[in-house]
Amino acid sequence: MEVSEGLLYLGGISADSLLERFGSPLYVYEEDVLISRFRKMRNCFPPDEVDIHYAMKANYNPSLLSLLCREGACIDAVSSGDVRMALEVGFDPHRILFTGNNSRLEEIEFSMSKKVPVNLGSLELLELYGNRFPGTSVSIRVNPGMGAGHHSHCITGGPDSKFGIYRDRLADALKISEKHGLKLSGIHSHIGTGIRKTEAMIEAMDLILDSAKHFPELEFVDFGGGFDIPYRESDEELDLEELGQRMRQRFREFCKNYGRDLKMKIEPGRYIIGPAGALLATVTNITETPSKKFVGIDTGFNHLIRPMMYGSYHRIVNASKMDAPKESVAVAGNICESGDVFTGKGPDAIRKIGGPKIGDCIAILDTGAYGLSMASQYNLRELPAEILVKNKNVEMIRRRQDFGDLVVNFNWFGG
Ligand SMILES: Cc1ncc(COP(=O)(O)O)c(C=O)c1O
Repeated sequence: MEVSEGLLYLGGISADSLLERFGSPLYVYEEDVLISRFRKMRNCFPPDEVDIHYAMKANYNPSLLSLLCREGACIDAVSSGDVRMALEVGFDPHRILFTGNNSRLEEIEFSMSKKVPVNLGSLELLELYGNRFPGTSVSIRVNPGMGAGHHSHCITGGPDSKFGIYRDRLADALKISEKHGLKLSGIHSHIGTGIRKTEAMIEAMDLILDSAKHFPELEFVDFGGGFDIPYRESDEELDLEELGQRMRQRFREFCKNYGRDLKMKIEPGRYIIGPAGALLATVTNITETPSKKFVGIDTGFNHLIRPMMYGSYHRIVNASKMDAPKESVAVAGNICESGDVFTGKGPDAIRKIGGPKIGDCIAILDTGAYGLSMASQYNLRELPAEILVKNKNVEMIRRRQDFGDLVVNFNWFGG
């Protein structure tokens, strides 16, 4: 992201001209940012010790997956759709780990038919799996009894979480696997997403390793994702070097006591793709009330739900007027819901952005992760196009939906 003569540039091209060419709203990804984030992760978690399974739920655009495949990433998949997409892109089945939750047996069967390893998060599913695939290898997801994350919806460990086999039930997992001749080849855990406190990650790691020592046939331990990114101007980057060193050091010590070298796995999503994306939109309206000036734009929580669902903060700028005097405004979407306000209702409700006028380009930053991948067709609006930019080159990697796409499945239209 650069600014020149008052305009925001992404991949060397002004945001205004991208909207002019590809229409509004628009998701833009900077290839250089994506690649450098992955490489940074790989330097801190080198491939001879750690497999990096990119959590494709964060963003499953196949063009982005293909870049990561070339870089040597593995994949964390959560559905048969994810597994199919990753295979289509060219990931080797053994570089994918399917971690469903409340999965149907068919989903597990699908992964097995494609030779994609399966990771199971409940005793019931382990029993079902054992009956269907006796004598095979499988890994299990453990709930270590604690969680962390940027919002209560994003905490995936602890007694209130639906995920994983609770750590006090692990002896039962061993019994079930013995009954069916299963090899429990991996232990997995993911305590939450958007974790800023690395201490929580280390604490969870210790709990998982404490559980792992009871499983004699392990090939890997997977510590999940959760690595946060700076969303606010005042946020600092995680000290990934330090975190990587600490996690690897602890893992080496564990392996020494375990008596064998195991592979460590991690599953970052947000860290890799979040900062690479921006959602561009056009100012369509400006409305004042006694308390606020609302800047209305042509996108809403149908395209980026994080602010409305989690109260998440995203930096918002007027990409057409980066140097103009700032005005205090709220930024609202075009969905018929009063909660459709990107700046929320709390202390961040008013932002200072360069004097907005109808037709200006607004950029909502750091939206590469959990942006379009969580989008919907609410209010019967089309999903935006996605483009990839690098060194003044642009590639459209997903076309904008049209009315036909929205109605294709309705009988009325011959679906
Ligand atoms: C099992 C699992 N692994 C990895 C991730 C990725 O998390 P993040 O994008 O915060 O790294 C998630 C996200 O919720 C997850 O559920």
